[in-house]
Amino acid sequence: MRKPLIVANWKMHGTQAFVRRFTAALEEGKDALRQPEAEAHVVICPPFPYLLSLVEQLGTGLSAKVLVGAQDVNAQKDGAFTGEVSVSMLSDCNARYVIVGHSERRQLCAESDLLVAQKFAVAQIAGLTPILCVGETLRQREQGLTLDVIAKQLQSVAELPGVDMTRQLVVAYEPVWAIGSGNTATPQQAQEVHHFIREQLGAAGPRIQLLYGGSVKSTNAESLFAEMDIDGALVGGASLEAQEFLNICRLAGAICSV
Ligand code: PGA
Repeated sequence: MRKPLIVANWKMHGTQAFVRRFTAALEEGKDALRQPEAEAHVVICPPFPYLLSLVEQLGTGLSAKVLVGAQDVNAQKDGAFTGEVSVSMLSDCNARYVIVGHSERRQLCAESDLLVAQKFAVAQIAGLTPILCVGETLRQREQGLTLDVIAKQLQSVAELPGVDMTRQLVVAYEPVWAIGSGNTATPQQAQEVHHFIREQLGAAGPRIQLLYGGSVKSTNAESLFAEMDIDGALVGGASLEAQEFLNICRLAGAICSV
């Protein structure tokens, strides 16, 4: 049985004071948060400078229930790569998840399918769970290319030596046109792609958590989570407000209803 999973992607937002306020709000709702057992239910991906302070603020009580992830990683082990962060540094800071291939990085930082696959591989090899983002642009959707684009993005990762698509991974379907736009995919549009992704993942498909991302809010989350192949969400804007984020977690079943 797949567990619900909600991942907060704070993008380039936040301050130390914000981290303190957010964790204080989580602390208040802590009793309702489920224990992660084998997998997490709630993961927060702050900007790099706040990774350690988030881990520290979560303390022992919350860290059993809320795990920390990074928004990106460099594909190299270490070396002269000014400004970059390695997977071993993330592990050293207790990050357990890492987002790879977010469309903002694919578009704004020109990340290729191959580079995304390499980041996925280093994360998996180091024992972090990669959250692989895939998604089509509006133009690709209008041209009827959605499933082709998704298949290619998945395949470039699956084909890279060292990648194991049968274990320790999460896939987030994030239509580029839905991110930060307020235009969420309809539950039917999202379900169609999620079902396709699950099929593409083969025998491991039924076990892998598939998240939807793109303008998820507490007002649209319930109908998305009602779809069979949607196991949770990757939440950007709405994850910056603790109560709104907790509401989304509650709707996914990532926290007990109170
Ligand atoms: P959004 O971002 O929820 O603000 O649309 C989602 C994401 O980019 O992961």
